[in-house]
Amino acid sequence: MPITLKVNGTSRTVDVPPEMPLLWVLRDELDLKGTKFGCGVSRCGACTVHVNGVAQRTCTMPVSRAAGAEVTTIEGLSPDGMHAVQQAWEELDVPQCGYCQAGQMMGAASLIARTPNPTDAQIDEALNINLCRCATYLRIRAAVKRAAQIKAGGAAVPAGARPGSGGED
Ligand code: FES
Ligand code: FES
Repeated sequence: MPITLKVNGTSRTVDVPPEMPLLWVLRDELDLKGTKFGCGVSRCGACTVHVNGVAQRTCTMPVSRAAGAEVTTIEGLSPDGMHAVQQAWEELDVPQCGYCQAGQMMGAASLIARTPNPTDAQIDEALNINLCRCATYLRIRAAVKRAAQIKAGGAAVPAGARPGSGGED
């Protein structure tokens, strides 16, 4: 059944069963591999993308629910990799193995879009569905705050002037 959705700003039509999870469509039909498969049961957040601007898990979302919607994956978060979240993640060296991080960043981007200056509690609440086996949670929290600063106009720190990660994860 043909289903049309807008992915990273481009209209895409896929001919798939309507119950196919959106994650399958993104990865296997549209070759957007940045969004990851983790648990497959809406428990880990690795598959998080934005659907109409809201962070959503896609491993259990039928693609038919995204028909006509605007879907943004990590590949489309910014045209040049310079979204505030991407800058902050790089500045603070957040990823360890990296597997969860696309989902974490999509969750963070959605959070600061609606909550420009999130508290620790708001960050924890927004991202508590995003698990990290490498336990980078403290760096993620710091990076969300840094991303909020950058988004509000605070310049990113040049690569050579970045502090060490501090081993706080
Ligand atoms: S793969 Fe979707 S929540 Fe884990
Ligand atoms: S960085 Fe390894 S799972 Fe999060």
